[in-house]
Amino acid sequence: MKISPVKGTRDFYPPQMAVRNFIADGWKAASRRSGFEEFDGPIFEYLQMYQIKSGNEIVEQLFHLTDRGGRDLAIRPEITPTLARMVNQQINALPRPIKWFSIPRLCRAERPQKGRLREFFQWNIDIIGEESVLADAEVIFCSLDYLRSTGLLPKDVVAKISSRKLLAALLKNLGLAEDILPVLYPILDKKAKIPVEAFTEMLGKVITDSGIISTILKLMDLHNADEIAGLINLNDQAKAALAHLQDLFKTLGAMGVSEYCRFDMSIVRGLAYYTGMVFEVHDAVGDLRAVCGGGRYDNLLKDFGGPAMTAVGMGMGDCVLEILLRERGILKDDTLATKTLDYFIAVADATLADKAVVLAAGIRQAGFSCEFPYKVSALGKQLKQASAYKARKTIILGQEYTIANQLVVKDMAEGLQTAVDAAGFLATLTRI
Ligand code: HAM
Repeated sequence: MKISPVKGTRDFYPPQMAVRNFIADGWKAASRRSGFEEFDGPIFEYLQMYQIKSGNEIVEQLFHLTDRGGRDLAIRPEITPTLARMVNQQINALPRPIKWFSIPRLCRAERPQKGRLREFFQWNIDIIGEESVLADAEVIFCSLDYLRSTGLLPKDVVAKISSRKLLAALLKNLGLAEDILPVLYPILDKKAKIPVEAFTEMLGKVITDSGIISTILKLMDLHNADEIAGLINLNDQAKAALAHLQDLFKTLGAMGVSEYCRFDMSIVRGLAYYTGMVFEVHDAVGDLRAVCGGGRYDNLLKDFGGPAMTAVGMGMGDCVLEILLRERGILKDDTLATKTLDYFIAVADATLADKAVVLAAGIRQAGFSCEFPYKVSALGKQLKQASAYKARKTIILGQEYTIANQLVVKDMAEGLQTAVDAAGFLATLTRI
């Protein structure tokens, strides 16, 4: 019986694994450059954890299961609730601010499409316990610092930044009640993903006043914060949220990433827990789904039974990112090695095959990578194999060994060959 992989999942053969590692290595390096420490949690949690605050979209996309004890569990669709749970558990022992990163494997029962799968990896950076604008700026900076380090430029990616606090103040000023806002956010988040008619129709299901709908439509198109006052009166809350955003843009400017950043009122975010600054990075052309998304979530730890604790963070998936890196020519299949070796042992005389095994074991014990052929073939073929394995050096076991107990060491980059004493060879290795 032929069994195929489940739709929306990926098999990582060595070349795909090299791509995954290339991406994850960049994420780790960027996290460490900004001082984040790595953490991880379990792959499944109690189902209820995602029902509390993630929002309907995530709940509808959960892979859930019941264990033999009748407990309802879910495979993690995001790691933010796990982070909140873990921080709450040790809240008094953890030095603040908490700056953690993680690269969890996540599952969402989404309809697989370009850049969205049912299983993916997501880089998370989060800062907990720091309410100043510096924490918001650091999260956006670190995301952009990574993207910039891959070679993506402001003409390739843009960080669209807004504020739920500002949006909430404006919507309330329009006369909308506070309790309608949690219903409205996931709809507003769909603005760029669906045709305007469908968007307007969805708005019409929660707002009866067509005047308000038309103001919201205009508001969602704003890219200049100064124009808001022309649409809606700014109350004190809106003014404070606007001032916070301006501070944020100033800090991002000082950090040298303002070319990547722009204000965009249509960024609302689908998840329920965001309370302040929200942002998403998109490809500049706007062809793809978001590269990453995040924001401030000041109530999540409290909602999970912990103390009131401010937090801000973001998640970046590997799928859209990989598409973008390929489209921009930054990632090419043949540029990533699936294997590199310090040494390859070529056996020029088949009677020396057993010596190759002993030598390889000694080289590995000395801490270097080494391979030897299982079957002895023509020397030229073995040297080709050494090049394919990206061996730095090839040791040739041949007549020099039989006659003078010498190994011929070939530097694969320079092509130089030197004969060295076989008996003392392992002792010289630490000096390389
Ligand atoms: P999110 O917007 O649900 O936020 O996901 C963030 C990113 O994860 C997306 O922009 C995308 O790159 C990737 N992603 C999401 N769903 C999929 C999928 N089905 N396939 C491939 N990639 C996907 C969160 O998850 C928040 N927990 C992020 C966060 C951390 N906020 C604060 N801290």
